[in-house]
Amino acid sequence: MRLGVNIDHVATLRQARRTVEPEPVYAALLAQEALADGITVHLREDRRHIQDSDVYQIKSVIKIPLNLEMSLNEEIVNIAFDVKPHQATIVPENRQEITTEGGLDVVSNAERVRDVVKRLKDRGIVVSLFIDPLEWQVDEAKRVGADAIEFHTGNYANAKSQKEREIELEKLSDACRYAKSLGLHVHAGHGLTYENVKPVAAIDEIEELNIGHSIISKSVFVGLKEAVRLMRQLIQEARWKLA
Ligand code: PXP
Repeated sequence: MRLGVNIDHVATLRQARRTVEPEPVYAALLAQEALADGITVHLREDRRHIQDSDVYQIKSVIKIPLNLEMSLNEEIVNIAFDVKPHQATIVPENRQEITTEGGLDVVSNAERVRDVVKRLKDRGIVVSLFIDPLEWQVDEAKRVGADAIEFHTGNYANAKSQKEREIELEKLSDACRYAKSLGLHVHAGHGLTYENVKPVAAIDEIEELNIGHSIISKSVFVGLKEAVRLMRQLIQEARWKLA
């Protein structure tokens, strides 16, 4: 299972002062040294954290894959064409939200999604769609030509009781099985923490987890390399149980 480290919140801290530190590119290099499998950044339309220059700089220095989270906005799509990340993950975007609040509604936006997926794939970029764990969204993701889906784990992460968490985990694991049966690569992320990651990491079909807030939060106290190492360790422990 690959761990993609989302470093948006290093940029959030920098933008809080509109200064030059901390530098996201340095975070990307440290995460790489700590054996992260990929670096994830979200270039939002409002540029509230990651800036265009960060994306170019990170892409030019890292040796591991760059996963660019992006909306369907044409300006951002054109930046993706220019940057040529290894992978683009298409997410919904709403200016008022604190963070991505739900999965992309592929069914309602099928034409636009199909067009962007095709143009990204034509340029050799792997395309993943960030969706809720719902069969009809998986079906549509397959129909529009996505290579992968990333399941939104927010409902699992925000569950208020153990019972609710179990229900969300089951929905997630059923959706993972279904997506894999259609030949899609299966990723997951959002709201995953050191406390709640293991049951998700234990879902056999998931190939990649993208985790940001919790890793960057821990890094404030233990440093980024140690924070990445600890998360990787939890993921490995969950996978060993499968073996
Ligand atoms: N995956 C996607 C598609 C996201 O939009 C985000 C948040 O930017 C994440 C994963 C990481 O979420 P978190 O910061 O809660 O770990």
